[in-house]
Amino acid sequence: MADLHIQISRDKGGIAGQIASELRDAVRGGRLAPGTRLPATRDLAGDLQVSRGVVVEAYEQLVAEGFLVSRVGAGTRVTPVPPARVAPRRRAAAQERPTPVRPTSDTPACAPYYGHRPTSPDLSHFPRERWLAAVRHVLATVPSDALDYGDPGGVPELREELAGYLRRVRAADARPENLIIVGGVAQGLSLVLHVLSQRRALRLAVEDPTSHRQVPLLRRAGAHLVPVPVDEDGLDVRRLSGDAVLVTPAHQFPTGVVLSPSRRAALMEWVHVGGRVILEDDYDAEFRFDRDPVGCLQGLAPDRVILSGSVSKALAPGLRLGWVAAPPDLAEDVRRARGELDLGSPVIEQYALAHFLRTGGYDKHLRRMRREYRRRRDALVRALACELPAISVKGIDAGLHVYLELPDGWDEPRTARVARELGLSAEPVGPMRQSPGKPAVVVGFARLPGHKAAEAVQGLKVRMSGHVTD
Ligand SMILES: Cc1ncc(COP(=O)(O)O)c(C=O)c1O
Repeated sequence: MADLHIQISRDKGGIAGQIASELRDAVRGGRLAPGTRLPATRDLAGDLQVSRGVVVEAYEQLVAEGFLVSRVGAGTRVTPVPPARVAPRRRAAAQERPTPVRPTSDTPACAPYYGHRPTSPDLSHFPRERWLAAVRHVLATVPSDALDYGDPGGVPELREELAGYLRRVRAADARPENLIIVGGVAQGLSLVLHVLSQRRALRLAVEDPTSHRQVPLLRRAGAHLVPVPVDEDGLDVRRLSGDAVLVTPAHQFPTGVVLSPSRRAALMEWVHVGGRVILEDDYDAEFRFDRDPVGCLQGLAPDRVILSGSVSKALAPGLRLGWVAAPPDLAEDVRRARGELDLGSPVIEQYALAHFLRTGGYDKHLRRMRREYRRRRDALVRALACELPAISVKGIDAGLHVYLELPDGWDEPRTARVARELGLSAEPVGPMRQSPGKPAVVVGFARLPGHKAAEAVQGLKVRMSGHVTD
């Protein structure tokens, strides 16, 4: 407990303000170190011979300004972060409305591998205020028992809301009882494959090219992978082999093409032979800019197709919230597997997402971001057409990335490196391929404001001129 030396002048009045000012200076000057516990208000009032209410007022002011933190049972302490980062604000205003949520610069830096990807959304647009409101609502309303170990398949409220959302937006055959809440598509696929490969040896067809980051988790889950080529119509269904296929029909990753209607029909025929199944990765289907997204395959054959999706593109990958819609027997096994693995996903976030969906926040955010991403994609594609017409932009008007086939002599790793140096999020396609293909890179546009696109593309043109090959 700090023994404080505080000087007040009784002639001046505004005693609470004077105490606050003395304490503020002591924190700023380092006399009161972060985390230091302050005297109880009654004790300090006694020392200074003022009423306790005056000290309470001073403490409250500094709590509102961010210099102090106060917790029931733990007393009042100096905030454990450097106070200079905390913007002062008026106490009255702070009481009227929730604290404005602003990103701070003290976010821990991520190792590059785990950081931003070409398919990551613009996280500066994360709806902090509305998400905070949802979390506040949850904490103010859920009974304490709801915070206990819950159903490893997810909280019923979220499964209910998601089922409605997926039926409405993705034409899925989703019901609360066939949905399992998971920590993203990655975990959903792991669990499903783990269960399937326990039932029988699993030969899993995967698109070529495909997300190279998924490959280790597919293998780890016990699947033997069989690459199948992708062309402008999506997965070449005639060349499919295996008992199961992992496919991104709404927006193939990485090529950006959509599975054509005839291939969809052929895939539906394929899956109805024997005990075959389709694993449908619906990772960015909400972002289609030229028309409504095509409905998911799962809605056409819910007994054969397992749908995985997440909020990683719509909200933030760091939330690690996603879902699996599976036939009832498989859903039950996946739920059990999740329970055995780690007992389920964090419940406060699940309730918050349920609230966000129920109150329309999710739809509203998606509408806003769809408009924004469309503008950004258009700007990038326009700049490429103007400055680098030899680059061919593949795929449909959708998602958060473009697939760029490179001009003769351009080297994938170098192009991706130069693009990254110019602030673009870019990756070579080589590691995503099993068989050779035209050199290409994947470039994310979610974080590239429209007015910066021309400058970035011009930079790429200048830096790549001469077609240097590594
Ligand atoms: C093809 C593909 N599927 C799924 C995901 C999303 O994975 P998750 O939901 O686990 O964040 C990504 C993310 O980059 C992706 O590229």
